[in-house]
Amino acid sequence: MPKWLEDAVFYEIYPQSFLDTNGDGIGDFEGIIRKLDYIGDLGCNALWLNPCFDSPFKDAGYDVRDYKKTASRYGTNDDLKRLFTEAHKRNMRVLLDLVPGHTSEEHPWFIESSKAEPKEYRNRYIWSDSWIYWGNSAIRFVAGEAERNGVYIINFFKCQPALNYGFLYPSEPWQLPVDHPDSIATREALKDIMRFWLDAGCDGFRVDMADSLVKNDDENKSGTAAIWRDIRAMLDAAYPEAALVSEWSRPDCSLKNGFHMDFLLDHEGGGYKSLVRNYKCDREGRLTEDASYFKKESNSDITCFLEQYMPWYESTKNDGFISLITGNHDTPRISRNLSPRELALFYGMAFTMPGVPFLYYGDEIGMRYLDVPTKEGGYTRTGSRTPMQWNGGRNLGFSEAAADKLYLPVDSSPNAPTVDAQEKDPDSLLNTVRALLRLRHAEKDLQSKANLEILYAGKGSRPAVYRRGSFVVGLNPSAEEARIAELPVPHRGTCVFSIGTGSLDTGTCMLGPQSFAVWRV
Ligand code: NOJ
Repeated sequence: MPKWLEDAVFYEIYPQSFLDTNGDGIGDFEGIIRKLDYIGDLGCNALWLNPCFDSPFKDAGYDVRDYKKTASRYGTNDDLKRLFTEAHKRNMRVLLDLVPGHTSEEHPWFIESSKAEPKEYRNRYIWSDSWIYWGNSAIRFVAGEAERNGVYIINFFKCQPALNYGFLYPSEPWQLPVDHPDSIATREALKDIMRFWLDAGCDGFRVDMADSLVKNDDENKSGTAAIWRDIRAMLDAAYPEAALVSEWSRPDCSLKNGFHMDFLLDHEGGGYKSLVRNYKCDREGRLTEDASYFKKESNSDITCFLEQYMPWYESTKNDGFISLITGNHDTPRISRNLSPRELALFYGMAFTMPGVPFLYYGDEIGMRYLDVPTKEGGYTRTGSRTPMQWNGGRNLGFSEAAADKLYLPVDSSPNAPTVDAQEKDPDSLLNTVRALLRLRHAEKDLQSKANLEILYAGKGSRPAVYRRGSFVVGLNPSAEEARIAELPVPHRGTCVFSIGTGSLDTGTCMLGPQSFAVWRV
């Protein structure tokens, strides 16, 4: 386990929208380099970059055409290497986004594989042996597109043919077993890509749809898991400092099978979602019935989250880290439904829990979820991918290009949050995040590994209290003051951080309306 993960806090960058330095309306590597000091001052010491490789961008770069070449709109491979070097100078790490489950339909492997008689890569993708496949309905296929006498399986969009790692239980002659030489060749090709970027200086990967490799896999994804164990063995032997974080949201599978970290996401179970995004939308996209725990007016308690989180935490805490996110490029920004105060309370929790937290660019200033048309296959996700808001200048400091040339429009509201404005306000969300992360970095007991113990949480009860080593953390998202007695803390706590009012004295905790506090005990 790389030691640096014990105090890592990640910043996710959607490179399209971070900072444009050459005036073409789209973000670039140089823009990221110029903002490394900003990210470091914020308290983040690691980056995750969304895919920045050559691509037709039908799914914002998750449709890779060349894994070993950066997309020219961001810069060259050498520019990306310079970003690694500049980050390392500042003690920061950089994870690239690895898309192992599929390529673009324009990838040379797929073009060759689609031919009537492929010379190479016949089995790099999953082709049936005839024109239609009605088997497992979870497996989606595309017909009528290629010279080849067969249909091909896709992993996500039509433009993303699934790479072939084999089937756990093959049921047709064209379904290769996982130990077929061609299934193994795909895995080796993936390892080759990983070595290419690790040798160039990256510090690991966020792994897209990490659970999607082997088809007809079982409930625990044991076919896919075996591949990740093999890849982890490569890392442990040759790149022991490199880290892997999975888009899987099943820490019980991922952290036991090669991954150092796994994201908690909206789609699995609903525990994470219950905290911040538990609302419905009407036909016009207006929010209704917001039952999120951090919503002041909701009557929700934290137990839905804990019922999912705690068993995973207890059973995996010696294997790896669960990653709480403020948001990501696939989820609506939580400023859509939560006020700045509600955001601050959630960040208080996210940055004092175990595991390795991830902050999505712009969430530190409460950037809004915008109502914008779909771009590069983003659909409703596009509203969370708009340009970073640096200052009150042209295009809010994102780019010198004409407004109609921007990758996506910037927030046009007169009170759009910006970094500049929030730097000047000691009570801003930005400064709250900075203070929280300063505290986390200063105290080992608030970092990834230190133990978590729930001291108070209850059905129908709004506040929650937990212990991290020598600290007690209290949380009250409601409009009412809360008083919790008989906590197993026999003395007075010294407050080291607070939002709102609170106290902790001889087993009794008082939490004012919408408050968050950390006490040293
Ligand atoms: C998950 C990524 O986060 C998402 O943005 C992408 O569209 C799909 N995987 C397909 O790669």
